[in-house]
Amino acid sequence: MEQKRSELKGKNILVTGGAGFIGSNLVDRLSLENKVVVLDNLSSGLLTNLSKSMERITFIKGDILDKELLEEVVAKVEFVFHLAANVGNVKSIEDPHHDMEVNIAGTINLLEVCSKSNIKRLVYSSSGAIFGEAKYLPIDEDHPINPESPYGVSKLAAEKYCFAFHKVHGLPITALRYFNAYGPRQGSSAYPNVIAIFSRRIKEGKPFTIYGDGEQTRDFLFVGDIVRANILAATHPAAVGEIFNIATGQENSVNQLVSIINQISGKQNKVIYADLRAGEVRHSRANIEKAQKILGYNPETSIKEGLLLTWKEEIAGRNAKGEKV
Ligand SMILES: NC(=O)c1ccc[n+]([C@@H]2O[C@H](COP(=O)([O-])OP(=O)(O)OC[C@H]3O[C@@H](n4cnc5c(N)ncnc54)[C@H](O)[C@@H]3O)[C@@H](O)[C@H]2O)c1
Repeated sequence: MEQKRSELKGKNILVTGGAGFIGSNLVDRLSLENKVVVLDNLSSGLLTNLSKSMERITFIKGDILDKELLEEVVAKVEFVFHLAANVGNVKSIEDPHHDMEVNIAGTINLLEVCSKSNIKRLVYSSSGAIFGEAKYLPIDEDHPINPESPYGVSKLAAEKYCFAFHKVHGLPITALRYFNAYGPRQGSSAYPNVIAIFSRRIKEGKPFTIYGDGEQTRDFLFVGDIVRANILAATHPAAVGEIFNIATGQENSVNQLVSIINQISGKQNKVIYADLRAGEVRHSRANIEKAQKILGYNPETSIKEGLLLTWKEEIAGRNAKGEKV
């Protein structure tokens, strides 16, 4: 018999990392119908990211390395969305110890506290970075795992700890591996991808730089679709103990992005082609069949719609310094 999804309404929810790019978009949505507590140390997140929902939520400036604080907060909630992390390859290469501490030790803190509480679901934000170089496309959940940066290693280790706690303590956990996320507020993320970088260049009035011929492709995922995937993962009984790729299953080239951005902005942004960077993957695309079948997840936002929404919230009406005009 098919198991029915529950509703996420009127619940007490904790979002770690809720002042960040993805977290704040999730908080905006969850706080419409639930009591949301955001725990964030503001190391890369911004309070302004929460300006739409601040009046409806409880914000705690705190660290996931502070276990006592976690105990206090987790005792009052039923659902946890764990997004707090040291995000991005570059930061992790500069300081792998800090990356390990936040992403692994911080996650273990949360898992220990949650396993002694009555949490109904913990949704862990994992990453496509755990796969490393693609051996085949599209990348499914069983694709070989070979992270190439300390960040990929720490996200993978935390994912493994999540499932160890699921097995040992029966903690109801679901992990979502996002691919290339983009959308409003990505500028604040410690992990800007090509879309966030192009957004910054537009704000600064500078040309775009494309490494190589621009025909390299990525699976770009709008943040609104990540928010929906989180809600599906938290409410579907069959999601417990499962890992899902969350992406679009489509590829877009960097040249295609430029052409869409030019259409939206009504400008011909200057493009400089530079030498291809070493180690850059030519194509990437995820297989999302598992999330489609089990969660009923389907990405709803085309790259054109997503870029338009990003443009409206992030770029239009701002001057070269990024100030509202
Ligand atoms: N952006 C992407 O493309 C992408 C892709 C795959 C996975 N992810 C994952 O999604 C999650 C959110 O990423 P994002 O892009 O929104 O990044 P982000 O940097 O905007 O968000 C991370 C948030 O965590 C907070 N934080 C960091 N260390 C903390 C600590 N010790 N205690 C409390 N809060 C802390 C930061 O202040 C920030 O608000 C992360 O777990 C990341 O690994 C992101």
